[in-house]
Amino acid sequence: MTQSTDAAPLFQPVTVGRMSLPNRIAMAPLTRSRADNVTGVPTAMNAAYYAQRADAGLIIAEATQISPQGKGYAYTPGIHSAEQVAGWRLVTDAVRAKGGRMALQLWHVGRVSHPDLQPGGALPVAPSAVKPTLKAFTTEGFKDIPTPRALEIDELPGIVEDYRIAARNAVAAGFDAVEVHAANGYLIDQFLRDGTNQRTDAYGGSVANRARFLFEVLDAVVGEIGADRVGIRLSPLSPSNDAQESDPQAAYSPVIERLNDYKLAYLHMIEGVTRGPHPGFGGLLAELRGLYKGRYIANNVYTRAMAIEAVGGGHADLVAFGRPFIANPDLVERLRLDAPLAEPDSKTFYGGDARGYTDYPTLGAATA
Ligand SMILES: Cc1cc2nc3c(=O)[nH]c(=O)nc-3n(C[C@H](O)[C@H](O)[C@H](O)COP(=O)(O)O)c2cc1C
Repeated sequence: MTQSTDAAPLFQPVTVGRMSLPNRIAMAPLTRSRADNVTGVPTAMNAAYYAQRADAGLIIAEATQISPQGKGYAYTPGIHSAEQVAGWRLVTDAVRAKGGRMALQLWHVGRVSHPDLQPGGALPVAPSAVKPTLKAFTTEGFKDIPTPRALEIDELPGIVEDYRIAARNAVAAGFDAVEVHAANGYLIDQFLRDGTNQRTDAYGGSVANRARFLFEVLDAVVGEIGADRVGIRLSPLSPSNDAQESDPQAAYSPVIERLNDYKLAYLHMIEGVTRGPHPGFGGLLAELRGLYKGRYIANNVYTRAMAIEAVGGGHADLVAFGRPFIANPDLVERLRLDAPLAEPDSKTFYGGDARGYTDYPTLGAATA
């Protein structure tokens, strides 16, 4: 028996920064590795995929490298060349034509890369030369990630500048906002955490020093396009991509508190270990969440019931769904109707063609 719960706050409009959203269901950023591998240019197939999901209150597009050095997976898109901006324009036009809104996630992977994916076969870069126990997804399959090269202090302004230009490019490509990817053990998170940051200069040691890079990036991006078009993603409790931190509370509390000063469009939090299990709504998560005063997007293994409860009960302003959006292009409608959800096929998550990408049917098509 399906039951409509249209009245639930989850299905009600909300403003997020400059954006007016028709509902509080966001599509979480999902790397699908289906752009051109050499140019990093999004394709018409990418545009079709996102347009199918335009009912989301907000689509947060997949992580997108801000520079060739920021790349860590084969076939991921970039936002640092004119061709990439033109490719993304196809996507944002298609989403807007279906009535949607879209943010772009700005990404530098840091050490989570491989020389095969780096310009000139260079070593990946990181705050410190700490080798992750990870494999990289290359065009020749998975390869062991080598020890990265520690960034020189005089290289950091150039990377901050890459973020700034990427934000400008995202607006030129028609995005409504950008999301600074400071989660999941990538470059910004590598600076934040003591397991990956062993620097002894102004970017290492104290929590304030480790957060310096994050706030320099934020200052640059906000200065370029305005705080009301900038969100940020954090995953304080996730060891994703070998991210180690001895004291998450000490590392992330001051960061979240200081984010309040920026009046950003939103904070997007991966609650617990990325892809689950959800840690529950008490404890450290409640403490960290309570520090933030602006719009809060909750994510991680949310079900319909959890999302209705989280938004209805004031825990979150929006809930972002990742995997459910892969297999359910009409996720918003299915949640509204409390209709069954299709399960995504993890074999087609990364790379490949339209199969497992644009061929998941809507409920109407599936039952027709
Ligand atoms: C195929 C796949 C790709 C992902 N790519 C990204 C990404 O590009 N950026 C990011 O911040 N998180 C990424 N994630 C994490 C998701 O955004 C999300 O946090 C996670 O899947 C948990 O949410 P869910 O339980 O609703 O799927 C990815 C997850 C999956 C399954």
